[in-house]
Amino acid sequence: MSQDSLLVNEKGARTGKLVITSSLLKGPVPKPWLTQPARYSWVPRYLFLLICSLGLLGGAFQIYFGLKSVPKLGNVCLVLDEQFDGDSLDTSIWTREVALDGWGNGEFEWSTDSGNNSRVEDGMLYIVPTLTEDVIGHDNVFDGYNLTLNDCTSGNSTTCWVYSNATAGTIINPVQSARLSTRLSRSVKYGRIEVRARLPRGDWLWPAIWMMPKDSMYGPWPRSGEIDIIESRGNGPSYPAQGSDWLSSTLHWGPAPLLDGYWRTTGWWNDKHLTFDEGFHTYTLEWDDKFL
Ligand SMILES: *[C@@H]1O[C@H](CO)[C@@H](O)[C@H](O)[C@H]1NC(C)=O
Ligand SMILES: *[C@@H]1O[C@H](CO)[C@@H](O)[C@H](O)[C@H]1NC(C)=O
Ligand SMILES: *[C@@H]1O[C@H](CO)[C@@H](O)[C@H](O)[C@H]1NC(C)=O
Ligand SMILES: *[C@@H]1O[C@H](CO)[C@@H](O)[C@H](O)[C@H]1NC(C)=O
Repeated sequence: MSQDSLLVNEKGARTGKLVITSSLLKGPVPKPWLTQPARYSWVPRYLFLLICSLGLLGGAFQIYFGLKSVPKLGNVCLVLDEQFDGDSLDTSIWTREVALDGWGNGEFEWSTDSGNNSRVEDGMLYIVPTLTEDVIGHDNVFDGYNLTLNDCTSGNSTTCWVYSNATAGTIINPVQSARLSTRLSRSVKYGRIEVRARLPRGDWLWPAIWMMPKDSMYGPWPRSGEIDIIESRGNGPSYPAQGSDWLSSTLHWGPAPLLDGYWRTTGWWNDKHLTFDEGFHTYTLEWDDKFL
């Protein structure tokens, strides 16, 4: 027997049928929200637009004041425009340093004036490292060879010769390369320096574009300052201590080498998309009496 059969009608008779009164409204159902919009429906719309506008305005302010805060140089006049479009290096402008002195960095290069290491070709200056053993032979690099630079440009003549002695562990600088300078021809105090260059790729290479004081007015390094426009490394981008996808710029200054305050004035740039040996870039320094 189902439960239905237990139901009874008003007269007490069993009906066996469930009677449920419908609660459905009869006739057309009013739906006012379809014809007239809610009273404050404009609020969220305008709030959204307001917040968007504030964001855009904030961005515009940030860009404007960011750009405005970048100092600008006044007029500058041309001191040197070197396009390397001659047949050879213009030695009235450039001095090829000839030295074995390590240049304060422990460099093991022999800086030469050889066309093997620096030459002008196709409107470009090439700086090319080579192996010293190609010139003096492998064994001489390591023992029994007295290398004396007759055309040495180092201010310290004791760094103009080296004797290889296997017993003493002294070797001839094993790599030849070039260090070129305008120190005898042109110099600037304040202005813009632009160097368009492609950096090299290869372990042990340290490309650098530096400015040194012409006259060390305030004394020996670092008292008279040094502006390193850029330095990088030839190692690939996987090199953990900054490879060819990194550049750094530094000022060296202070009363003594041990008190060089460079760590306050050094910075790095890492490019996530390229390495600096892949193509040419213009490296620029702007400098006046208030900023660098
Ligand atoms: C230039 O390189 C060649 C080949 O390695 C060598 O024979 C020559 O001596 C080099 N020139 C100089 C000036 O070092
Ligand atoms: C090497 O040459 C330099 C200068 O030419 C000289 O002063 C020095 O005594 C020489 N050293 C040796 C070990 O021959
Ligand atoms: C010259 O170089 C030698 C060897 O590196 C060094 O011992 C000496 O102090 C230097 N002299 C000067 C005046 O810098
Ligand atoms: C090489 O170095 C050793 C050890 O310092 C020294 O005894 C020897 O005289 C040196 N040789 C020359 C030719 O200078």
